[in-house]
Amino acid sequence: MSLEELFERFTLQSRIFKDRDKLLPDYVPGDLPHRSNQVLQLAKILAPALAGSRPSNVFIYGLTGTGKTAVTKYVLRKLSERAQDKVIFSYVNCRQNDTSYRVLAELTRDLGTRIPFTGLATSEVYKRFVNALDRRGRIMVVVLDEIDHLVKKSGDDVLYFLTRINEQLTSSRLSLIGITNDLKFTEFLDARVKSSLGEEELVFPPYTARELEDILRQRAAETFVEGALTAEVIPMCAAIAAKQNGDARLALDLLLKAADIAERDEAEKVTSEHVRQAQREIEKNVTVDVIKSMPLHVKMVLIAIYLLEKEGARNLTTGVIYNKYLEITKMLGMDPVTQRRISDIINELDMSGIVNARVVSLGRYGRTKVIRLSTNVKSIEEGLQEDLFMLGVTEMVTR
Ligand SMILES: Nc1ncnc2c1ncn2[C@@H]1O[C@H](COP(=O)(O)OP(=O)(O)OP(=O)(O)O)[C@@H](O)[C@H]1O
Ligand SMILES: [Mg+2]
Repeated sequence: MSLEELFERFTLQSRIFKDRDKLLPDYVPGDLPHRSNQVLQLAKILAPALAGSRPSNVFIYGLTGTGKTAVTKYVLRKLSERAQDKVIFSYVNCRQNDTSYRVLAELTRDLGTRIPFTGLATSEVYKRFVNALDRRGRIMVVVLDEIDHLVKKSGDDVLYFLTRINEQLTSSRLSLIGITNDLKFTEFLDARVKSSLGEEELVFPPYTARELEDILRQRAAETFVEGALTAEVIPMCAAIAAKQNGDARLALDLLLKAADIAERDEAEKVTSEHVRQAQREIEKNVTVDVIKSMPLHVKMVLIAIYLLEKEGARNLTTGVIYNKYLEITKMLGMDPVTQRRISDIINELDMSGIVNARVVSLGRYGRTKVIRLSTNVKSIEEGLQEDLFMLGVTEMVTR
C-alpha cells in the first residue's frame, strides 16, 4: 500500500466509527445508566458545601470498573458548575501521585500556589498547604482516587494529616473522598484515619449483564455509525464482562477493540467473531502485564515451574519447585528465600490463576499439593521474556 493510499483511507469516512473518542477510558459520558442512586447519594453528601458547610468525608468502595471514578467526576463537575468558585474541588489520582509529597504538591497547586517537584521537607509542604488553604477561606473537597496505591507506597501520614487538618484551619474547611477497589489496604490505616475517612460510605456493586448492555448501548450510540454493529455484539461484550466481576471498563474495551479489528480488516460491520478476537487479545495482555509486574522472587518461582514443565516434569510438588528455584537463584547469584515463603508464593500464583495448585491424596502416604501452569505458555514466555533472557534461556527470545 502506498502512503497516499494509507492516508486516503484514514481521511475517508469510517464505515464503523462516528466518533471513536467516545469509547476511550477517560471520557465521562453525560449520563451514567444504573448509577443514579450513587450519583444522588454522593451529591447529597457533598451538597452542604454549596451552603458553606463542610461535607462529611466519604469512603467509596467497589470492584474495578464499577463506575466509581466516572460517578465521582460526574458529581464533581455538576457541583462545581453550581458552586462557581465558592468551593474548591481537587481530584488526585494516587496511582500517578503515590507519595505524600506528590499529593500535597498537587493539592497546593489547585489552590493556586506552586510547590517545587522535590526538595522541600515534607513538614514544610504540609505548612504551605495549610497556609494556602486557609488564605482562600473556602471549603475544599479533595478526592483521592485509587487511594490504596498511596497507602501501600507511602503509608497513611498524609491521610492522617488531611483528616485532622480542620483543627488547624480558621477560615477554610476540608472534606476528603477516598476511592478504592481494594478493601485490604484499610488494614494499613490508623484506626482514627479509618473511622474519620469512613464518616460516610458508598458501595458500588458490580454491574449485571443487563446493566452493562445498557451502558454499552448508550456509549455505542455516540460512537458508531448506525448499523455498524451486528445485533449480537453488545450482548456478547456485556456477557463476557459480567462474568469478569461486572467490569464496565472491560466491556467498553472489548467493544472498542472488536470495532478496531473490524475496521482494520475493512469489514462492513462488527461481528461476534471480532469480539472473540478482541477477547483473546485482551486476556493475553492482562496475563502478560500481571507477570511483568511481579516481584522478582515470584517471577523466579514461575520460571522454575515453567522450566520444569518444559523439561517434561509433571505433578510438581513444592519441594521439587523449591529445588529448581534454588538452582536458578544460584545461577543468578541471588539470595534465595525460604521454602515456606515459596509455598506462599505458589498460593499467590494460584490465586491469580497463573498456576493451578491441587491437593491430591497419596493414600496411606498422606496428601500432597501438585502444581501446574494454568495459563498458555506464550503469555508466560512473553511476560518473562527479559528474565528468561537473563538466565540464558534464549530460544524463546529469538522466537
Ligand atoms: N454507569 C455507567 N455508564 C456509562 N459508562 C460507565 C458507567 N460506569 C462505568 N462506566 C465507564 O466504564 C469505565 C470504567 O469506569 P470507572 O473508571 O468509573 O471504574 P472504577 O470503578 O473507577 O474502576 P477502578 O477501580 O478500576 O478505578 C469508564 O470508561 C466509565 O466511563
Ligand atoms: Mg477508578
